[in-house]
Amino acid sequence: MNADFVSSGWLGRPVHFMEEVDSTNSRLAGLAHRGATEGTAVIADCQTRGRGRLGRVWQSPPGRNLYVSLLLKPDLPAEQAPQITLVTGVAVAEALSRFCPGVTTLKWPNDVLIGGKKACGILTEMRTRGTRVDYVIVGIGINLNMGKEDFPEELRSIATSLREETGREIDRVDFAKALFSVLETWYDRYRRMGFAVVRERWLALSGILGRTVSVRNGDKKVEGTAFDLDPSGALMILDKEGRQETVYAGDISLTGENLCC
Ligand code: BTN
Repeated sequence: MNADFVSSGWLGRPVHFMEEVDSTNSRLAGLAHRGATEGTAVIADCQTRGRGRLGRVWQSPPGRNLYVSLLLKPDLPAEQAPQITLVTGVAVAEALSRFCPGVTTLKWPNDVLIGGKKACGILTEMRTRGTRVDYVIVGIGINLNMGKEDFPEELRSIATSLREETGREIDRVDFAKALFSVLETWYDRYRRMGFAVVRERWLALSGILGRTVSVRNGDKKVEGTAFDLDPSGALMILDKEGRQETVYAGDISLTGENLCC
């Protein structure tokens, strides 16, 4: 990966490029512990222990994709930190939409899909100081140039890459620069104007509203139709009995057909 990366704003300054790391999130946590400033980024060509949510592995072969972690220091109560994942999702969806307009959608809370298949996952980890956020590490994995054959068999029907969808090889540095710029815009907007403006954009880009979903959080399972995000960013579901459930965390499966646009 060509490392002549110059970020045009504060996000991605400095950038630490690495050939191989265990996980860019873990590497950035070490830098944050030693006092790295907001905006610091770690980008790796490959990860040997790329981490997904819920202890999953993130496929991270060399020479293909974007694996990046960003250090943010929002002045927020800890319970609002999940909003940072939604801010990031909006930015990634907009960056991918430039290549795949109309088919790039958000799946709550942390996935970006192209044509219904996962192209990006976001892993947000935080350190708190008392009840407030000390820092947040936003880890973003985007399948840019994975070929079908690069995915393990079990992921081939549910995952995709920008190259698979467009037929074009994607320049990883150019894509990272564009992403940093969009994310910086959304993060600054979020800090100035609050979550409402992000929520509105998230809903416009969402691919799950009106769909029958099943959300699993530990032992708890909620099934119903996803119909909204509440003002904090939690997912609102209407179950079969017409009861409204608000889900703050969990893993979603789309189980039925689309009931609205
Ligand atoms: C998920 O969908 O479960 C989240 C995947 C997040 C993967 C990225 S790749 C860069 C960063 N480093 C990691 O170890 N994970 C995140």
